[in-house]
Amino acid sequence: MMLPIIETDRLILRAPRAQDAEPIAHYLNDFDVAGNLARVPHPYYLSDAQAWLRTRHVDVDVADANFSIDVKGQGYAGHIGFHSGALGPVIGYWLGKPFWGRGIMTEAMISALDWFFATSRAPIVYSGVFHFNQASLAIQHKLGFTETGRSALLCLAREAEVEHIDTQLTLGVWKARRT
Ligand SMILES: CC(C)(COP(=O)(O)OP(=O)(O)OC[C@H]1O[C@@H](n2cnc3c(N)ncnc32)[C@H](O)[C@@H]1OP(=O)(O)O)[C@@H](O)C(=O)NCCC(=O)NCCS
Repeated sequence: MMLPIIETDRLILRAPRAQDAEPIAHYLNDFDVAGNLARVPHPYYLSDAQAWLRTRHVDVDVADANFSIDVKGQGYAGHIGFHSGALGPVIGYWLGKPFWGRGIMTEAMISALDWFFATSRAPIVYSGVFHFNQASLAIQHKLGFTETGRSALLCLAREAEVEHIDTQLTLGVWKARRT
């Protein structure tokens, strides 16, 4: 399917494009961002962003949908996307540090999850946080994700396995919260 453009009050979620490489590299080459993500090495170079963008396509399965997040009037701010995990679809996300603390990811998550549940047949979306990531866990709890257990997940930036709080959000909970 062709990725849609999703507009919210303050944001535009759209397909990643080659010009995103510079802001992606700038914001991801920050240990405070990468150290909370599983699959982002540190340091992170422009060539890493360019290589990753070459693997993104506008025409994708819902299960692999990835969106660049633009803040209206301010441009590229971060990323939200889905990938297929061992149990099913997984949602992941990050924002460049200048955009933290303004409710932006809550707004992006709500619109991305609305779209994902409406477009896929998935009854459940998985996620989680490294155990120290209180801001991300707060968003997930607020949106209806529940904790299902703990695991050890490799964090590339830390070059170590880190305790991960595993979470999931069911379609039933999401529907109940959105009506
Ligand atoms: C996690 C991240 C996406 C949050 O984005 P954001 O736009 O700042 O988040 P929001 O403002 O929408 O919501 C953050 C919530 O966490 C709360 N919060 C922030 N810091 C907190 C802390 N130290 N302890 C507890 N709650 C905290 C906020 O109060 C807010 O909740 P509220 O809306 O009920 O007040 C952003 O900090 C980020 O990109 N971090 C690095 C990458 C990352 O962690 N990605 C997620 C990996 S699981």
